[in-house]
Amino acid sequence: LGIRLNRICCIGAGYVGGPTMATIALKCPQLEVVIVDMNEDRINRWNSDDLPIYEPGLPEVVKACRGKNLFFSTDVKKGIEESDIIFASVNTPTKTQGVGKGRAADLRYIESVGRTIAQYANRSKIVIEKSTVPIKTAEAIARVLSANETANGGHKNFWILSNPEFLAEGTAMKDLDEPDRVLIGGQEQDAIMVLADIYANWVPRDRILMTNLWSSELSKLVANAMLAQRVSSINSISRLCERTGADVKEVARAIGTDSRIGPKFLNASVGFGGSCFQKDILNLVYICQQFGLDEVASYWQQVVDMNDHQKSAFTGKIIQSLFNTVTKKKIAILGFAFKKDTGDVRETPALMVCDMLMKDGGLVYVYDPKVLIEDALTEFKYHEIEVNTDQFIFSKSPEEACEGAHAIVVLTEWDEFKTYDYKKFYDKMMKPAFLFDGRNMLDHAELEKIGFEVHALGKGTGSSQRSKSPDFVMRASSGLLPSGGY
Ligand code: UDX
Ligand code: UDX
Ligand code: ADP
Repeated sequence: LGIRLNRICCIGAGYVGGPTMATIALKCPQLEVVIVDMNEDRINRWNSDDLPIYEPGLPEVVKACRGKNLFFSTDVKKGIEESDIIFASVNTPTKTQGVGKGRAADLRYIESVGRTIAQYANRSKIVIEKSTVPIKTAEAIARVLSANETANGGHKNFWILSNPEFLAEGTAMKDLDEPDRVLIGGQEQDAIMVLADIYANWVPRDRILMTNLWSSELSKLVANAMLAQRVSSINSISRLCERTGADVKEVARAIGTDSRIGPKFLNASVGFGGSCFQKDILNLVYICQQFGLDEVASYWQQVVDMNDHQKSAFTGKIIQSLFNTVTKKKIAILGFAFKKDTGDVRETPALMVCDMLMKDGGLVYVYDPKVLIEDALTEFKYHEIEVNTDQFIFSKSPEEACEGAHAIVVLTEWDEFKTYDYKKFYDKMMKPAFLFDGRNMLDHAELEKIGFEVHALGKGTGSSQRSKSPDFVMRASSGLLPSGGY
């Protein structure tokens, strides 16, 4: 191909670009890795001890490589000029206006990367899509590049590859270190092999899958859609369990041992969040509609609808249990991040839960080990949810959040939540003291012993005692249980 193989550049220093490039730098000391981003503040933080994202294991890797073969810079032009292998790892949020609003991916950042590369490329380059993109985005990038191939000097070749990232936040470094697979889609075998050889520095060759461009782009959307579908499926069953006396944890274990189903991603929750699941499904739905596949589109839309239902049903249950109103009642929220081990709040279920509680007049006191209140407020704003800061308070400790509260609501499965002395919280709470476990992670029998009225997902209230009673089971199965109705 006639390209230089000693240096790579990544445009976009976010949740994906940062950890991925840090890992490449660590595993390939012979390569020089430069990450560029137009956000100066972000780059400054990557160059400091206070990294812009929280990810276990990341600081160690950055420390080991930064200044040696890993560099962070705002000089996008230089990054493009000096590297012939360029990753595009920019954000692709859902469009907030215009055609496809609320569903289609907003490709303005990825398109601008294409234009920037076209503007500054001085030689032939391999351009790699790392960001999740709708199918056929590579074609759009290729068109932008080829329309400008003679800009900045004579003819150049651009080889486009799709190399979606499957890392999950909180476990990113481990996912990158030992990926289930690396997926590379492309049209030219030689270009694919350049990238495959980089990964082969630490990933076994049989885990490096090669496909055509479109399969690769689509696989990323489908992987996220199928994972989210599992969560919505088990969440839908949790609702049924609450009515029938079945316990969703027992059901998940029973079905997960079927090797065809498998045990992972069957934890019922208050709902899935994160920057990918909802965005990618909405995008899939939009693409299906574009091709006239309305039944397919509505099938996948249900996964998002079920998720919204789960969030509102969970919150409805809180309000109903607290005698149908939370006005002026202090509610302690444990966890605001969309999952444990991250400070990320994008699309976190906590948004809808807190919004509903606040709309009902509740005073929401949040404790999260990593989330910053500024980030929470920014995310509310992004969703056009108005927040009165008298009603939305971040507490410095769980004790502070729980003191005088009517209820504790667990929204994120942080490990430390399991270690708290709930008896101490209970003693300082209003009575009856309620606990709503949106992650099914605490010892409910123990909490009931302390005196809490516990509401767990996918389990009847007080079920640690009642589920043992055959009478209860009989009444449940004959449909004579009170219907709850949220
Ligand atoms: C099923 C369950 O597998 C079994 O555990 C239960 O006890 C009874 O129901 P069965 O209906 O005999 O068993 O066959 P199964 O292999 O599950 O296939 C069911 C249908 O799904 C078939 O029509 C099969 O062709 C179809 N199928 C299965 C697919 O179309 N694609 C697949 O990937 C798998
Ligand atoms: C996801 C994909 O897992 C990853 O492969 C892709 O690259 C990006 O999107 P991420 O969003 O970081 O990663 O986290 P993930 O662990 O998948 O969790 C997503 C959401 O589902 C979280 O809110 C999580 O709490 C929820 N979840 C997950 C459940 O509610 N139950 C489960 O059993 C698993
Ligand atoms: P992801 O979760 O996909 O990594 P993030 O939003 O965390 O997404 O990161 C994307 C990064 O890409 C942001 O830091 C943003 O400033 C950067 N970015 C977006 N467009 C461009 C561009 N045209 N040139 C340089 N950086 C860009």
